[in-house]
Amino acid sequence: MQASTLAALKELALQCARSAGELSLKRMKEPFTVEYKTSASDLVTAVDKEVENHVIQMILARFPDHGILGEESAHVEDYKQYDTLWVIDPIDGTTNFVHQQINFSVSIAVYHKGEGMVGAVYDPSRDELFYAVKGEGAFLNDRPLQVNREVSLEQALLCTSVFWNKRAEQIGIDLIVKKLAGKVRGMRLLGSAALEMAYVAAGRLDGYVSMQLNAWDFGAARIIVEEAGGRVTTMTGTPLPYDQKSSVMACNPTFYEELQQFLKSEHTDVPSQN
Ligand code: IPD
Ligand code: CA
Ligand code: CA
Repeated sequence: MQASTLAALKELALQCARSAGELSLKRMKEPFTVEYKTSASDLVTAVDKEVENHVIQMILARFPDHGILGEESAHVEDYKQYDTLWVIDPIDGTTNFVHQQINFSVSIAVYHKGEGMVGAVYDPSRDELFYAVKGEGAFLNDRPLQVNREVSLEQALLCTSVFWNKRAEQIGIDLIVKKLAGKVRGMRLLGSAALEMAYVAAGRLDGYVSMQLNAWDFGAARIIVEEAGGRVTTMTGTPLPYDQKSSVMACNPTFYEELQQFLKSEHTDVPSQN
């Protein structure tokens, strides 16, 4: 990809992330409708849909030939026909958006032929923009990010994206968390996978694991963690897909192997597929 194209993608991705974040903050102050998707734990608001539409309009106005994979619209049915694909989650952490009005983010990623080029995760409540461009490093606002602290698994502060409900029990996340909690310094649950992974890049957390996320949850943050020097794979150590559901493990490289071994140990019930 030409440097000028990459620069244009970066500029637009960052603009979209900021603009979407500002719109969600504005709408948060007004009444909005909340609907259930699959259950009372799986929410979507009118703001999620409006923000996603807003981002799609911005992208297509500039790049009408690009594909879009968005949580609320799955805009392009046959997205694989597009060389350049935008993977977007307009509000990651909708439950927090509704209840807490903090700890949610906008997640925008650009993939070219399956390769992550630009990732942007914006936390509008704190005005924190985490972003990365392939080969150019990762940043929080204008500060470069580097995951380079020496840390063992015992010293690590980990995070998981548990929705602590029936669904979580069905896929066994409670067992994994229980095992991990006994091994590491502490576990945190913030409720926005994109933000939690961005925090790994920023060194606020040492690692993040989740048994099941959608491509739009991790698409941007994965690029940010990798550009900051962290390692991101599935929980079984295979490469993350860019367009499919997957488990995710994103962490400081110093204990990546140790965590993999721990998750594979006979006492830990990690599924053999992604
Ligand atoms: C959710 C958040 C949460 C994770 C869920 C996701 P949403 O995204 O990332 O942390 O546990 O799996 O679905 O629904 O708020 O966009
Ligand atoms: Ca999400
Ligand atoms: Ca969402």
